[in-house]
Parts: sequence; C-alpha cells; structure tokens
Amino acid sequence: MDIRFLGHACFELSDGDTRVLIDPFLTGNPKAGAEASEMNPTHIFLTHGHQDHYGDIVDIAKRTSAQVVAIVELASELEEEGVENVSNPNIGGTVEFDGGWVRLTPAWHTSTTPKGTVNTPAGLVINLGGQTVYHLGDTGLFSDLQLVKARDKVDVALVPIGGHFTMDRHDAVTAVDWVGADVVIPCHYNTFPPIETDDKAFQDDVAAKTSSRAVVLDPGESHTV
Ligand code: NI
Ligand code: MN
Repeated sequence: MDIRFLGHACFELSDGDTRVLIDPFLTGNPKAGAEASEMNPTHIFLTHGHQDHYGDIVDIAKRTSAQVVAIVELASELEEEGVENVSNPNIGGTVEFDGGWVRLTPAWHTSTTPKGTVNTPAGLVINLGGQTVYHLGDTGLFSDLQLVKARDKVDVALVPIGGHFTMDRHDAVTAVDWVGADVVIPCHYNTFPPIETDDKAFQDDVAAKTSSRAVVLDPGESHTV
C-alpha cells in the first residue's frame, strides 16, 4: 500500500486499483500536495465536517462517483448536496468495500460543517489490502485511543501533532505509545500559524519513548508499507 500525504490531514491510500482519499482539503490549503482536480479516488472517507477536512469532497465525489463514508449527519448533508453512493455509519460501525473495510472510532473534538450541520468527529480505522491504517482524526489525547489495537494490529497511524485544535506533539507521543503502530506519520501541523510545531522533535521523541517509528512526509510525498 502507498500512503501519500497531501497536506494537513489529507491522505491517499492506494492498493491496486483502490484509491482511498481521506479528508480532501486541497483547495485553499496552503500546504496542499495536489490539486483537487487531479484526484481520482474510488473511495472518500471523512473524519468530520470542519472545512479543513470536508474541503473539496462534494466536487470530487460528484466528479468521480467515489463511494463516500462519513458519519450519519455528514452523510445526510452530502446526499442533500447531490452526492450519490454515500454510506452513513456511526461510531463503532464498520463499512466493508471491495478490498477492505473502514470503521469509525471516537475522537475528542467538536465539529460543524461549513453549512452548519453539527456532527460528531471520528477516527478512521481502515483496512486495505490486509494492512490497517488508523487515522486518528482531530482529537485531544484520551485513553480510549489504545482500544483500537485490542481488535486490530495497527500497521500505520496518522497522528495530529499541531496543537491548538488537536493534541500537540507532546501528547501525540503518548498517543503513539498507546496506539502501538509500527509506523506513525504526523499530520495537522504547520498548515497555519496556530498549529506550527517541530516535526523533527516529535520524530526524536517517538524514537526515544515508544516502540514506533515516525516517518515525516512533505506534502506530496509517499510512504510504502
Ligand atoms: Ni476539526
Ligand atoms: Mn482540523
């Protein structure tokens, strides 16, 4: 599986002909690693409805007819916007798709869409091609982050480290320890001034204090697992 970081919290997971796009905030993202018009996903998953995650989802979903998975209130809004092929789980629910599955987990955050729909934020546990990726979403540190590994070995975790709107790089090291992934990729930092942080210091702390390895990607770069 290729994991491409597209800036902020946006990633594309590719395995064979399956391309999963997560939180497609590209237009207006000062650190976007691609243009929305370049994306050709087969699936689009959302952690929550804030603009810096919702982003271009309506345009990309309509253009590609990708299968969208989002928590039920977001799914309803997307259907009202004319997006077809939408799945609407809630926290704890799993949606299966060709080649894998995705489950929504809790995340401690708030969320309202740009249009005003209130929704509960989620993390995403995604299995693709037999490997499991856990996108923590926007969240503060909370101890239930460690529950994901009770069911699935986490191969790669995508972890917010920017602080202010999410956990900072220090709490993120504790989260990394609890999640227990082989590889962690930091995200949700250095996009805007309030979330500037030191990714090298995070990488060093992960090496010193956990059994995981942090891989820092610039927007547009990929990591293969
Ligand atoms: Ni948010
Ligand atoms: Mn955010």
